[in-house]
Amino acid sequence: MWIYPRVLAHRGGGTLAPENTLAGIRCGLAHGFRAVEFDVMLSKDSIPVLMHDPEFGRTVRGAGKVGETTAAELARLDAGGWFSTVFAGEPVPTYEEVVHFCRENGVWMNVEIKPSPGAEAATGRVVGEVTRRLFEGVDGGLPLFSSFSFEALEEAKSAAPGIPRGLLADVIPPDWRERLQALDAVALHTNHKHLLPERARAVKQAGYGLFCYTVNTPERAREILDWGVDAFCTDRIDLIGPNFAAA
Ligand code: G3P
Ligand code: MG
Repeated sequence: MWIYPRVLAHRGGGTLAPENTLAGIRCGLAHGFRAVEFDVMLSKDSIPVLMHDPEFGRTVRGAGKVGETTAAELARLDAGGWFSTVFAGEPVPTYEEVVHFCRENGVWMNVEIKPSPGAEAATGRVVGEVTRRLFEGVDGGLPLFSSFSFEALEEAKSAAPGIPRGLLADVIPPDWRERLQALDAVALHTNHKHLLPERARAVKQAGYGLFCYTVNTPERAREILDWGVDAFCTDRIDLIGPNFAAA
């Protein structure tokens, strides 16, 4: 039912490196993580790039919107200096660059499709198309898509039916079964803070994978694993190791 790694580094290297950058994924690797979650958004010219916020200001300084900035312009922005001077000049990577890096380094990917508001369908479609092209003829190690946007996942499904999908929900909605069925999804991804053991059991009994974000203490990780949660991502890759769930 869950054929993927069980502990993932959130946004690359969790809170130990600038999120959604190659430096972040390298940091995860240095901590032994060969499984990563990151966020993918479209640039103005429809190139998928790694980014969490649709507007600049937090990880990238200044004003502006990712969806109104070209990938070439984004590549020149500093996505690392906000975190520390050590990472100053770290670029906003394209999704394609990251896929190549991960495949070269044996890092498995949970690709969170993170549309700018209004770009749900386009983001799902383009990320689906790019992923399908990049993984053409590849058998093992396919990434897992996830998204809070049902529409984005529908589009990703049409564009890349062979890439598995998980539906993200902060709080699991009452109609979760119907939603997962409609998407032909393999898993439900949810906020561990709102998860209850009975609901975890129901999801597992229905035959779906159950993934939690973002679990940052070993005690809580142990608790939800005991409830039957298959996998989770963490910001604290220094406290929770890649083999935590096997221990
Ligand atoms: O994919 C799990 C998690 O990353 C969802 O929340 O806001 O960190 O992208 P967020
Ligand atoms: Mg995410």
